[in-house]
Amino acid sequence: EDAEKGGYEHFMLKEIHETPRVIEDTLFEYLSEDIEIDASFSAGISEIVFIACGTSYHASLIGKYLIEKLSGIPVRVEFASEFIYHHPPMHRALAIAITQSGETADTLEAMRIAKKLGARTLAIVNVLGSTATRIADHVLYTRAGPEISVAATKSFIAQLIVLYLIALKLSRMPGSEVSRLVEELRIMPELVRKILEREDEIREIAERLAGFENMMYIGRGIGVPIAMEGALKMKEISYIHAEAYPAGELKHGPFALLGEQTPVVATLVPDDTYEIMLNNIKEVKARDSIVVAVAEENDMEVEKYVDHVIRVPRTEHIFTAITHSVALQLLAYYAARKRGCEIDKPRNLAKSVTVE
Ligand code: G6P
Repeated sequence: EDAEKGGYEHFMLKEIHETPRVIEDTLFEYLSEDIEIDASFSAGISEIVFIACGTSYHASLIGKYLIEKLSGIPVRVEFASEFIYHHPPMHRALAIAITQSGETADTLEAMRIAKKLGARTLAIVNVLGSTATRIADHVLYTRAGPEISVAATKSFIAQLIVLYLIALKLSRMPGSEVSRLVEELRIMPELVRKILEREDEIREIAERLAGFENMMYIGRGIGVPIAMEGALKMKEISYIHAEAYPAGELKHGPFALLGEQTPVVATLVPDDTYEIMLNNIKEVKARDSIVVAVAEENDMEVEKYVDHVIRVPRTEHIFTAITHSVALQLLAYYAARKRGCEIDKPRNLAKSVTVE
């Protein structure tokens, strides 16, 4: 097993380090020469319904943000485990199932029900030939390779890459704008490498958080699902109770939880949510919580208000789902490591849940 870890202490860290390659491989799959995503799956549909579980559910929330923003097509996101009991309307819908393993029982059942309800189905899957690929009408593979660690890392980023490509394919933006975003996507492996080079800074911050038992993750816009996935990583491997909230909702309840014993991780996206997020951070500081911000490397404003800044390279706001998520994966990893947790095999969890 040690040989397979390639010198890394855990598969999770090895897999996070494979992310630049995974992005390259997934982009190559769909952007090499003339190969493009065949968007025939979207013909005649009036809405998209994502069905997924766990980390793949968070990828779906980011997919919703991207597709609605870029194409204007309405998108719903359903937990597969809920979808199978409430059978929502699926009139002229495209159901997109996202599943790394292609074997999650709830997701498979939701796909079968979506088909019965008349929806066309597309599966975004990592494992070749898995059950989901046989149920779906269309399949798009992520090229993350085998993922051993229970906590999904590189496979999540690969799912995002496919979602960017779908959103760009369905977009109503001028071709020149689409090309510009595709070019930006192509430099993502480089940006992720830059984050990995600053791993020690993230480790130091993570080690300061490792002694707490409760944390809050906050964001706005695309920062909300980024925060949700960041909090999930933290709770599944470090066993710190980490909750994610849209920053504007804190005042409706979670403010009561803030204080010296509850650090807050704030994801700051460089778009029209930036200023209001800074205000939210000030509100959190006023309640004595330690604040860790994830922000762009050239952001000189945020450090005035927070205790620690995790710096990520500047990119188009939609691509912060990649840069911020990789940083938050490392934050969770190093907090869990400091706590001496069994990182690759967290208690009570399985890589693939094949029972409903
Ligand atoms: C399990 C894993 C998670 C994963 C979820 C969905 O809970 O521990 O990491 O996100 O299943 O798995 P899937 O293979 O459908 O993406």
